[in-house]
Amino acid sequence: MYDLRDVRESDADGLADVLSEIFKAGKRLTAGSKDFVQQRYIHDPQRIRCTVAVDPEGRILGFQSLKEAEKDNLYGTPAGWGVIGTHIRPSAARMGIGRKLFACSLEAARAHGLPAIDATIGKDNAEGLAYYEAMGFRAYRHAPGEISKVFRLDA
Ligand SMILES: CC(C)(COP(=O)(O)OP(=O)(O)OC[C@H]1O[C@@H](n2cnc3c(N)ncnc32)[C@H](O)[C@@H]1OP(=O)(O)O)[C@@H](O)C(=O)NCCC(=O)NCCS
Repeated sequence: MYDLRDVRESDADGLADVLSEIFKAGKRLTAGSKDFVQQRYIHDPQRIRCTVAVDPEGRILGFQSLKEAEKDNLYGTPAGWGVIGTHIRPSAARMGIGRKLFACSLEAARAHGLPAIDATIGKDNAEGLAYYEAMGFRAYRHAPGEISKVFRLDA
């Protein structure tokens, strides 16, 4: 059982712990830290919505971040598109959390008038690729080691 809500300032440790659990499971290259998640997910001025899934004890099980790509961003994502990232504890995976989080992000993307959302995934990350494909994203760009998928809202 879990609830979904917008991220709060007090969630920094919980978000970092989610990233660390994913790191320990060998599913990401870096562990999380409080500073990193504050900058990247809580205080980023490009943030549109960051939704967290919380269990009845208040433990964060996972989160999804939706931001707006800036002009000339480092990743070559078209300016004005959304950029999405999803991070679920391996111990809470495949329970439908990712699917519910995407419903929240999609609602925010529509409200914001985004034309499209980019998800960039490691090419060897089979579960990440399968997840975004299941949410309706389709590959549109390849870079060394990465595949970018797009969800179009303007089609
Ligand atoms: C990938 C990830 C976001 C999926 O989240 P989740 O909460 O487990 O996903 P859900 O349970 O909502 O699954 C939704 C659908 O995605 C697909 N899917 C999810 N995990 C999958 C897996 N391991 N293998 C195949 N398909 C998968 C399925 O179609 C699934 O629907 P179904 O369960 O009805 O078959 C999560 O496992 C995760 O955070 N992994 C580590 C970090 C990561 O890789 N992030 C994404 C890329 S940056």
